[in-house]
Amino acid sequence: MELIKVEHIGGRKISYKMNGETFKIKKGGTAIVPIDVYNDNRSRLVKIRSEKKNKQSARYNHVERIIGELKPKIVIEIGVLRALTAKRMIRAMLSYMDHPIYTGFDLFEPSPEAEGSKKGVESLRMIRWRLSKLHGAQIRLIKGDTNYTLPAYNGPKAGFIFIDGGHSLSTIRNDFVWSARWLKEGGIILMDDYYPDKIPSNQFIGCKTLVESLKPSWAHEILEPADVIPRDGSKINMVKIWRADNG
Ligand SMILES: C[S@@+](CC[C@H](N)C(=O)[O-])C[C@H]1O[C@@H](n2cnc3c(N)ncnc32)[C@H](O)[C@@H]1O
Repeated sequence: MELIKVEHIGGRKISYKMNGETFKIKKGGTAIVPIDVYNDNRSRLVKIRSEKKNKQSARYNHVERIIGELKPKIVIEIGVLRALTAKRMIRAMLSYMDHPIYTGFDLFEPSPEAEGSKKGVESLRMIRWRLSKLHGAQIRLIKGDTNYTLPAYNGPKAGFIFIDGGHSLSTIRNDFVWSARWLKEGGIILMDDYYPDKIPSNQFIGCKTLVESLKPSWAHEILEPADVIPRDGSKINMVKIWRADNG
């Protein structure tokens, strides 16, 4: 019998029988169940991925490091996916304050770019449930295309904004322009997807074009260590951007 580790994310408790014994899983509980139980209750049970599969690339450590140094009270993330970085950012903030504010923007539905990450997409409900376990944090999740949702944002300005959403040059430009608008004085924008190598597949994606077009009023630093994309051996960096007059 194939078994699978699951988490109960909503609704009534689930009872099932295994080897003649009855088991129950309550909302919020985890269990190792036969695959059929998972398949019959997919709206209420989600697969728990192994820690190994959840492990993020090394460059994502820059996010926690900058939050630790800057200690922002309000953080925005553009591109939440499965909330791996969201959880790391919120935990980092909870280590120095009680009620940090996190706002995450995403399509929260399958898209070519999200599928491209090969890690799968999860629903807004699932992400909301997962982040609700980080007690004390105020979480707001905004669903939709950031070309429309960012201009309509009506929340507080953020001390730190992590841009890791759509990869097209136009969406990246949109996300930067609006992040600049929603960034507090003294704040930092961190952008993922800087591809320094000149190879054809990187030509129309990533933030390099935007970074090279920044006005002198913006300072930036291409952060090392970077990661290497196994597919073609090219590099991928994160870039830290801040207002030059902030020193
Ligand atoms: C690389 S993933 C984000 C990973 C996440 N920051 C993390 O560290 O775990 C990119 C995300 O951007 C979202 N996305 C792509 N284009 C978008 C758009 N135009 N508007 C909003 N979200 C978008 C995708 O749905 C996907 O979840």
